[in-house]
Amino acid sequence: MNIAIISGSVRQGNVTQRVAAWVEHAAKAALPEAEINVINLGELNLPRFEDAMPPMMNADRHPEGALKQWLDALAAADGYVFVTPEYNHGMPAALKDAIDQIDHQITKKPFVVVGHGGVGAARAIEQVKLVLNANIGAVPVPNSVNVFGYVGMENSIDEQGVAQTEAVKGAEGPLTGALETLAWYATALKTARG
Ligand SMILES: Cc1cc2nc3c(=O)[nH]c(=O)nc-3n(C[C@H](O)[C@H](O)[C@H](O)COP(=O)(O)O)c2cc1C
Repeated sequence: MNIAIISGSVRQGNVTQRVAAWVEHAAKAALPEAEINVINLGELNLPRFEDAMPPMMNADRHPEGALKQWLDALAAADGYVFVTPEYNHGMPAALKDAIDQIDHQITKKPFVVVGHGGVGAARAIEQVKLVLNANIGAVPVPNSVNVFGYVGMENSIDEQGVAQTEAVKGAEGPLTGALETLAWYATALKTARG
């Protein structure tokens, strides 16, 4: 089983990559048999979506460079953890733009959303669930994970992805539960896709 963790901020010095590292540690512990890969959108440097055609309707698309890397990494995975901050009560524009460039690489595959921020990115998480399920047809699992508070200001997760506060440590149980649910759906849906 291959699980991709997507770090959804491209902001310089962003803290989402710390949250993604925290998820990576938990995924390696909870799913020891799985291959875990982190896709850091901040490092990937995807071009902005400017195609004339929607990806789903463009059979002649020949992705290159960072876009090819993004799509190939998604296609290789059986399940996903999208890690998002909350910007103005939504997901960052760069994450939405990256999602808009997907066609069928994640269709009928499950995903979990982990969010951080003042209200645990609750509103951004709902957006990510909606847009990934809408046309693209990825499958949201019931669990989401909220990291409440400002990771950067509170230093609640260090740069190695280790929890530094009781609040974040308290979210590790729900995170492990969500990863186990993700693995269950990944196995079931892989079998169903044949
Ligand atoms: C443009 C912008 C809008 C923001 N809006 C919200 C918000 O609506 N809710 C929230 O909890 N935090 C908000 N924040 C604070 C972010 O949670 C905080 O800056 C966090 O570090 C952003 O994640 P990043 O460092 O990975 O980019 C906002 C930050 C930015 C830069």
